[in-house]
Amino acid sequence: MTNTTQNQATGALPAGIRSGQPLSALAPMQGVTNISFMKVVNACGCPDYFFTEYFRVTRTSRLETHILRSITENETGRPVFAQMIGEDIHHLKRTATDLRRYEVAGIDLNMGCPAPKVYRKNVGGGLLRDPVKVDAILGALRDGIDGLFTVKMRIGFDSTEHLEQLLGLINKHGVDLLSLHGRTVKEMYRSEVHYDTIAEAVRSVRCPVLANGDVTSATKAQEILHRTGAAGVMIGRSAIRNPWIFKQVRAQFAGEPVPRVSMVEVRQYVDRLFRATHAEGIREEAHVSRMKGFLNFVGQGIDAEGRFLHEMRRTRTVSSLFEVCDRHLLDPETPWFADEPFSGVLARPNREGAGS
Ligand SMILES: Cc1cc2nc3c(=O)[nH]c(=O)nc-3n(C[C@H](O)[C@H](O)[C@H](O)COP(=O)(O)O)c2cc1C
Repeated sequence: MTNTTQNQATGALPAGIRSGQPLSALAPMQGVTNISFMKVVNACGCPDYFFTEYFRVTRTSRLETHILRSITENETGRPVFAQMIGEDIHHLKRTATDLRRYEVAGIDLNMGCPAPKVYRKNVGGGLLRDPVKVDAILGALRDGIDGLFTVKMRIGFDSTEHLEQLLGLINKHGVDLLSLHGRTVKEMYRSEVHYDTIAEAVRSVRCPVLANGDVTSATKAQEILHRTGAAGVMIGRSAIRNPWIFKQVRAQFAGEPVPRVSMVEVRQYVDRLFRATHAEGIREEAHVSRMKGFLNFVGQGIDAEGRFLHEMRRTRTVSSLFEVCDRHLLDPETPWFADEPFSGVLARPNREGAGS
């Protein structure tokens, strides 16, 4: 099949946990959404879909074992889409074929990563500047993948100039699912999310769209679906802050009371994270540092003044870290975790720079 042919989407997406509801997905996050974190999220309430961290594709790349584990050791029963990032068509196809030997729900292409060291190589978000190249890549992957083929992208590189054309290519090549982060690459992570642009994309593509970007709570998820008409939501940083969000979203969509999260549960989450971030032989300070990467987000729901974050960031030992957690999370005066992140309480930028 040539690239000028209209391709058909391959087939039906896997059903969600509650049939008939909008979908939810845990966003792929490099350095975060490994098998251990997926298990932690599963214990709090699973998303409908998982996406792996990206498999880097180059002439010499091989499937990274630690990322493969999020497919081979995933016992949640939920579908896992394997994400690739790259621009070399031959090796993207080779990698997709290799990935299809595992139990993946589909192959996902990353066209959103905003890290300059990535986009300068014309991969990730860098591809959005070059619709001709995107045409060739999507055509080749559609032809080479005999299962679901999905794309995760942003709304443009530094503007939405090419968006219409890119969405046309999503249709032309029969992409099965589009996860759309409503920011340009240059807007990184902090600007307003352009939900109206996601709504336009939903109207112009034939495949289902997952709306992505600042889906911070169950209420917000419903608002965003209402505003965009998307088939579901993809949630990243807010699932690190609040891994119960998928359970809450399902309750919200069903019109049921949304379960609140107690600080005691958050304290239990800290224990789970501690086990999930442990590695054989890891030094104490390195383990504390890994924990901080997660607690930076959790802290956005603990207190409005950012006191927890301030104190947590100064700890160096496991015992001091847990002392701060106990003091803030087991205080009977403040029994509930906030539904939305407190405005002005920011996660540390370095946790966000690598993403897409
Ligand atoms: C630490 C981090 C790592 C990320 N890694 C990836 C990645 O590997 N692949 C990808 O497509 N997006 C990646 N992203 C982007 C997220 O999937 C998501 O699009 C973005 O965070 C916006 O969603 P949110 O507001 O719900 O976090 C990453 C984001 C963060 C914060």
